[in-house]
Amino acid sequence: MITDQFGRPLRDLRISVTDRCNLRCTYCMPAEVFGPDYAFLPQSELLSFEETERVSRVMVDLGVQKLRLTGGEPLLRRDLPALVERLARIEGVQDIAMTTNGLLLPRFAAELKAAGLQRVTVSLDALDAETFGQMNGLGVSPERVLAGIDAALSAGLGVKLNTVVKRGANDAGLAEFWRELRGKALVRFIEFMDVGNHNGWNLDSVVPSAEVLDRLAGEDLTFTPLPPRHPGEVATRFISNDGHEVGLISSVTAPFCGDCSRLRLSATGQLYTCLFAAQGYDLKTPLRAGETGVQLRERIAGLWQARRDRYSEERGEQTAGRPRIEMSFIGG
Ligand code: GTP
Ligand code: 5AD
Ligand code: SF4
Ligand code: SF4
Repeated sequence: MITDQFGRPLRDLRISVTDRCNLRCTYCMPAEVFGPDYAFLPQSELLSFEETERVSRVMVDLGVQKLRLTGGEPLLRRDLPALVERLARIEGVQDIAMTTNGLLLPRFAAELKAAGLQRVTVSLDALDAETFGQMNGLGVSPERVLAGIDAALSAGLGVKLNTVVKRGANDAGLAEFWRELRGKALVRFIEFMDVGNHNGWNLDSVVPSAEVLDRLAGEDLTFTPLPPRHPGEVATRFISNDGHEVGLISSVTAPFCGDCSRLRLSATGQLYTCLFAAQGYDLKTPLRAGETGVQLRERIAGLWQARRDRYSEERGEQTAGRPRIEMSFIGG
């Protein structure tokens, strides 16, 4: 096991497979910036599935147990189940998940499950058509995402929901949203974060998790925190006195860098040791130059061992102007 400068082990690899998306969420890929002329990555710059598998094998050898596929929208990458199949065969992988907007799940859920995917986390911000249509930037209806969630459940995939909370956008409907969906899957409310450079983030538009919990608690409802299921868990789960769970992801009001064990691989083969990093570490060049597994392993170990990232804990005036990687490029 390798650890970084703060003693944090490398446990999770998040693999972005494309920078493209079929939605334009205002907090992630605002349509004004990611318009028809936006230059997305050409296919030739993307790691092949073979290369991604190779990197993943080295990572698992270094202690990675969890793999998560992300995007943009990962299901826009052609033939994705074939990558899942390759990754699922790696010995030592305990968990393979995917973060998706759900729109293509009716088409792919069964195939993904058969390929070895264990679970999906589906992003859905509101059940009200107008609110969701505005937040996803394209007027797409919540029913289309719900169909994806149902397809995943029917296929036997584990399902969690991610809901980014933005003040003035979807915060009015949170209690109703949770009541409607809690029977289907664990709902996790996420504090709107200052990722990327274009989402117009400011502290006023963040609804602190404590306030979210207050809004869920009705007259007779109280919440008790549950212990984390594994070290480094991003969401804090709470259970209500009538037995319903909710997760809160509080990277603004309660940063969780202390046990952050996540390394991110971009679709172009750059490694990022933090979601808020300005620059990645180029792994594609040595990979394509034919370095051996041992050499790649040395590189990755060296990168992790030098790591000192703790952006969410440092967030403040001095970090405000720093350039950052786009969320849609690195996948959250
Ligand atoms: P589980 O394995 O199901 O616990 O998944 P996860 O919660 O680690 O993954 P997911 O992609 O669903 O993460 C949920 C959200 O938490 C992301 O969309 C981000 O908004 C946020 N998040 C995840 N990882 C990090 C991180 O390392 N730093 C920060 N600041 N936020 C993160
Ligand atoms: N703040 C918090 N979460 C975000 N996501 C995307 N952008 C942001 C942001 N600015 C989440 C999405 C999705 C995952 C990929 O990241 O909701 O669940
Ligand atoms: Fe696409 Fe997800 Fe970003 Fe929305 S949050 S634009 S669905 S990558
Ligand atoms: Fe990890 Fe960086 Fe997120 Fe902190 S801000 S939890 S170091 S990815």
